[in-house]
Amino acid sequence: MNRISRFLASTIGAKLGMAATGILLALFVVAHLIGNLLVWKGRAAMNDYAEMLAHLGVWLWVARLGLLAIFASHIALGLRLAARNRAARPVAYAKNHTIQASVASRTMVLTGLLVLAFVALHLLHFTLGWLDPARYALTETLTRDGAAVVRHDVFGMLVAGFHVDVFVVIYVAAMVVLGLHLSHGIQSLFQTLGLRHPAYVRLVQLLGRTVAFVLALGFALIPLSVRLGFVGAGAVQ
Ligand code: HEM
Repeated sequence: MNRISRFLASTIGAKLGMAATGILLALFVVAHLIGNLLVWKGRAAMNDYAEMLAHLGVWLWVARLGLLAIFASHIALGLRLAARNRAARPVAYAKNHTIQASVASRTMVLTGLLVLAFVALHLLHFTLGWLDPARYALTETLTRDGAAVVRHDVFGMLVAGFHVDVFVVIYVAAMVVLGLHLSHGIQSLFQTLGLRHPAYVRLVQLLGRTVAFVLALGFALIPLSVRLGFVGAGAVQ
């Protein structure tokens, strides 16, 4: 076992690993939300952005593989810590004294696994196009330097995709779950980094809840606005 593996096998190492990977995943979520907000600017802005990402070529794959490794490490460390916590208390408390603990804190493993299930479904939906092949195949034709250029119509895919009610329900429900996970995750992060001084407990709680709420709401507004016709009205063929 090398030094890094030995460090991550210790409880404090696993917690710091969770914190580091959690920060990186949260930064991805913020960047992804900012990118997705382009849906409000319309087809050209959204598709230009998607085209720019697609043209990153090898760097896109480096980022994807990096993200995958970070996500996998976060899950593995989280499951290891949860198993260790259970092993440390083989007999459950006769009376559950977690009055102080929020729903979010008591359901971290569950909400984490649900976010994982959502990401898998989301990749099959918008990145691989397996769940909705017809809408994934939508293209936009533009003229560049006098020549016709055909590109992936991410805006059209998204708008048409969110006219399917079951997807709207799944995405909005998943954002509630993501919000719960982030709300406690951000507070834990401060605790692990030793920044959750008793004097600031309420402040850290407020910060965790506010950031989680803003992110979850920002994402959830996308399928809802499309379905309610505030975005892309008339864009669905
Ligand atoms: C309403 C919420 C969301 C919408 C509308 C949305 C939209 C999209 C779209 C359109 C793509 C494909 C982009 C392209 O092909 O250029 C995508 C990819 C992706 N999304 Fe989301 N997303 C949402 C929420 C999330 C959340 C909460 C996560 C993570 C927790 C996430 C993780 C990803 C990942 C990992 C990819 C693949 C990126 C890649 O291709 O490299 N998304 N999303």
